[in-house]
Amino acid sequence: MDGLSELRAKYLGDIGAAADGDALETVRLAALGKKGEISLKMRELGKMSPEERQTAGPALNALKDEIDAALRARKAALEDAALDARLAAEWLDVTLPPRPRPRGTVHPVSQVMEEMAAIFADMGFAVAEGPQVETDWHNFDALNIAPEHPARQEHDTFFMHRDAGDNRPPHVLRTHTSPVQIRAMQAQGAPIRVIAPGRVYRMDMDQTHTPMFHQIEGLAIDRDITMANLKWVLEEFFTAYFGRPVRTRFRASHFPFTEPSAEVDIQCSWQGGVLRVGEGDDWLEVLGSGMVHPHVLRSAGIDPDQWQGFAFGMGIDRMAMLKYGIPDLRAFFESDLRWLRHYGFGALDAPSLHAG
Ligand code: DAH
Repeated sequence: MDGLSELRAKYLGDIGAAADGDALETVRLAALGKKGEISLKMRELGKMSPEERQTAGPALNALKDEIDAALRARKAALEDAALDARLAAEWLDVTLPPRPRPRGTVHPVSQVMEEMAAIFADMGFAVAEGPQVETDWHNFDALNIAPEHPARQEHDTFFMHRDAGDNRPPHVLRTHTSPVQIRAMQAQGAPIRVIAPGRVYRMDMDQTHTPMFHQIEGLAIDRDITMANLKWVLEEFFTAYFGRPVRTRFRASHFPFTEPSAEVDIQCSWQGGVLRVGEGDDWLEVLGSGMVHPHVLRSAGIDPDQWQGFAFGMGIDRMAMLKYGIPDLRAFFESDLRWLRHYGFGALDAPSLHAG
């Protein structure tokens, strides 16, 4: 049969040159497809004489088998090459650190509340909560602040609206966290050891005051708690919070809900405009405290002849400023992203007794 060696050379060449699966399929169709050159030659066998067929048949079959085998081999080779290329291109170094993704930060106030809760929890204090819209009774009366008491004015209270003709005392935005003392004692009775961090509100706005700020209340009631326990708890707290021993100074003071009452200062130094806590001879006032007044215990359903204890209230925002060197209180609540990124904490900076 004529031309078989040319066909062989042509198709083996084309197969070798096919660069991908599609090109190879085109070659296959051209050679072995229904109308392929080799298939047409097979059909010609029928028109041959038996003698011719005897030589042409096996030759043509051999060629067909050879081309078929070459197609398969080329196909396998192309697939191997494609796999090698992918493996080379798509490798991944799993030891590389991940790309940093922009993420939010934990506000210094939230961070400090967590730190404080961790320290007090270690001394056996649970966290108590109360509403920010508070009854007049919890915010004032139960705390021994009578209706005509000047403290009500001092607190610059925000009152909630009452309809005309509704003469019940209006609810207030709580002016301090002290009403949580009452709620916690009502709910749990004595003995009790709680702290209550949270938002409080006063109509006040200047460089060092914002109408909303944060306080943390502490309360410990048992049969024999004294001011010595208060002093120890506070010194333990400041030392853990600032990470160094901090001396305290108690100054006699007055609060309606405690008797006796004391304002507490912490030791600090002022040098070159820099304030440092836990060193030096200056004092910085940070909280109010005292022995819980019998009237307050009684309002909360606790017998003052059986139980006694201390309470304290401290501003959280200023404690955050002191620890983390944040200069301006008002920036705390402006939600400026640059400020938040600068002073905020990572989600994984979990507060512990030894953090900071
Ligand atoms: N409630 C007071 C204030 O907001 C702070 C305070 C003083 C809380 C003495 C107390 C305390 O528990 O015993 O100024």
